[in-house]
Amino acid sequence: MVRALGMLVYAGICQVMTLANPLVLIEIIGCCEVIEERLDTTQTNSSLSERERRKSARPRPVIENLCVAHGYRRSGIAIALVHACEKAVRPWLGHDEVFAQVEDNNAQALRLFRKCGYQPLFADPTCTKVILDDTLLAKEINVTKLMMRKILDDGNEFIF
Ligand SMILES: CC(C)(COP(=O)(O)OP(=O)(O)OC[C@H]1O[C@@H](n2cnc3c(N)ncnc32)[C@H](O)[C@@H]1OP(=O)(O)O)[C@@H](O)C(=O)NCCC(=O)NCCS
Repeated sequence: MVRALGMLVYAGICQVMTLANPLVLIEIIGCCEVIEERLDTTQTNSSLSERERRKSARPRPVIENLCVAHGYRRSGIAIALVHACEKAVRPWLGHDEVFAQVEDNNAQALRLFRKCGYQPLFADPTCTKVILDDTLLAKEINVTKLMMRKILDDGNEFIF
C-alpha cells in the first residue's frame, strides 16, 4: 500500500466540484503533496544514478510538487503546506522522518526547508527533471538536488 496526501490551497471559498456542479471557478494558490516512495537517503552506491538507487531503497515520505502562486508568495503558505504534510505523516507507522529533494540552485526553496527544520544530507548530481523544450516537447535533463531531511519529534510545532 502506498500512502499519499495531496493538498491544494484555494483563494476565497473552497468549493468541491461535483457532477451536479461541474463548472465551479476557483483559484488555486498553492499545492503540495507528500507521498511514500522508494528513496535512497544514504548515497552509499554513488556509481548508480538516483533512479537506479531507488529500486533497492525502502519507501519513505517525500514532499513533492510544492508550489505557491506568484501573487501569494512570502505570506507563509508554503510553510503551512509543509507543516500539513508533516502532520499527515505522523500517523504513518514506521516513519519518523520526512524528506524533500530540492534543486541546488533553488535558493528560495532551500531557505524555506531550512526554516522548517530540514537538514541537507548530500547533493546528488544524478537526479533528473522534465522540462519543455522550445517546441513544447517534454524532455528529461540531469540536475543536482540536495537531499533534505527532517526528523519528526513529538513537539507541538504546527501552525494548525
Ligand atoms: C518556494 C516557494 C514554494 C515558497 O512559497 P511561499 O509561500 O512564498 O513561502 P513562505 O511564504 O511560506 O516562505 C517561507 C520562507 O521561505 C523562504 N523564502 C520563500 N521565498 C523566498 C524568496 N523569494 N527568497 C528568499 N527566501 C524565500 C524564506 O525563508 C521564507 O521566510 P520569510 O518570509 O520569513 O523570510 C515558492 O517560491 C514557489 O512556489 N516557488 C516555485 C516552485 C518551487 O521552487 N517549489 C519548491 C520545489 S522543492
